[in-house]
Amino acid sequence: MNKKIFKISKKIKPFKKKIFVESDKSLSIRWVLFSSMSSKKSIALNLLRSEDVLSAINCIKKLGSKVKFNNNKCEIIGNGLNYNIKNNLVLNAGNSGTLGRLLLGLLINSEKKIKLIGDKSLSKRDFSRVTIPLKKFGAKFSSKRYLPLYIEGLKNPKPINYFEKKGSAQVKTCLIMAALKTKGLSKIKAKKSRTHTEIMLKNLKVPIKVKRTKNFDYIQVKGVNKISPLYYNIPGDISSSAFFLVLTILSRNSELLIKNININPSRTGIIEILKRMGGNIKIINKKIYKGESVGDILVKSSKNLKSINCPTKYNSSAIDEFLVIFLVAAKSKGISYFKNLSELNHKESPRLKWGAKILKKMGVKTIVTKDSIKIFGNPNLKINNKIHIKNYLKDHRIFMMCVIAGLTCGGSWKINDQDSIQTSFPSFLKILRKIR
Ligand code: S3P
Repeated sequence: MNKKIFKISKKIKPFKKKIFVESDKSLSIRWVLFSSMSSKKSIALNLLRSEDVLSAINCIKKLGSKVKFNNNKCEIIGNGLNYNIKNNLVLNAGNSGTLGRLLLGLLINSEKKIKLIGDKSLSKRDFSRVTIPLKKFGAKFSSKRYLPLYIEGLKNPKPINYFEKKGSAQVKTCLIMAALKTKGLSKIKAKKSRTHTEIMLKNLKVPIKVKRTKNFDYIQVKGVNKISPLYYNIPGDISSSAFFLVLTILSRNSELLIKNININPSRTGIIEILKRMGGNIKIINKKIYKGESVGDILVKSSKNLKSINCPTKYNSSAIDEFLVIFLVAAKSKGISYFKNLSELNHKESPRLKWGAKILKKMGVKTIVTKDSIKIFGNPNLKINNKIHIKNYLKDHRIFMMCVIAGLTCGGSWKINDQDSIQTSFPSFLKILRKIR
């Protein structure tokens, strides 16, 4: 079996470049699923063409949507709010927790039994966070926690009141999708998490009300009898740009302009954290597009990086970026501390554990618990040994973290499963070649 091993043996040379990264994955998956709920033609430009989004497209096609995806334009004529499908349909969410969880919300009103499957990594992830509240709407499940599972929805799901305590946008969105298919008002109190769904639905003039407080959002959403088509030009993904932000901060005499990134404040934890650590980052050309903040990120090499006792208020808005933030902590002066991060172990791989494991291979001292990590930083960190990374459940972000570690800290690296980047950022290595 060819595991496509990526090798690094040299640090990156100073660079000064302008790049575009790929489009926002959260927005892309939401656009696909909400478009499937409309019966008119939705159009997106620059939809992310990655495995997670292609899995979403395959699923909605099986549910009755018609999709054309050529070059940078995707058109979807959805099946509307109801389904005309056969029993025993199988939907494959691939590697995507977002897709798997959102699909179950979408399927709340399908009376046919549908099987949801996913890859090895997704089959290890806990779906009870959505099956438990979806049962309140009236759905039945064959298994509470793990894929594969069968969902059997109902014609008239009941609206619910629910307190979402994890701060998971996947759970929040799944419940909002199900609520849209009821005949009443659902009330969701949700710990803060990314807000793309609420923003997209406001654009669609769906009856959704959101009251924001410091720690929670109070969301009220009424059932609808149609969804309008959606026209979007999808901006770049801050989670993809994160690898290049850290690459630049940790390189010598370098500068990078990353164009047209979605900088929704519920996603910019990495920028806040890196700035506090002494990272030289500026946002320019800020504008609002369809309710989302978009801007260019200008980042420069940063000397004198300092450790952080990371405030937990950033945990949700930086949730996908902690692996690379840990790299910055490893090259900063002092001991950094990140806490209340048990959610990190529920991602494509147990990332808190893997983050610590990789830092250890790099010669960095850490103290890791179930939900926290202390990183003993060293601004002069240099790796001289050989490092081989394998069996990491092909977690795309682990792969990219290791590439950035090798290019900024040295050492001789072999990283298995190069294809893992296909899930979120297929052009990662191509963009890197442009900079190197
Ligand atoms: C996502 C939400 C986050 C994030 C994931 C994408 C989304 O998960 O980790 O990569 O698009 O809603 P949680 O909401 O479960 O934290």
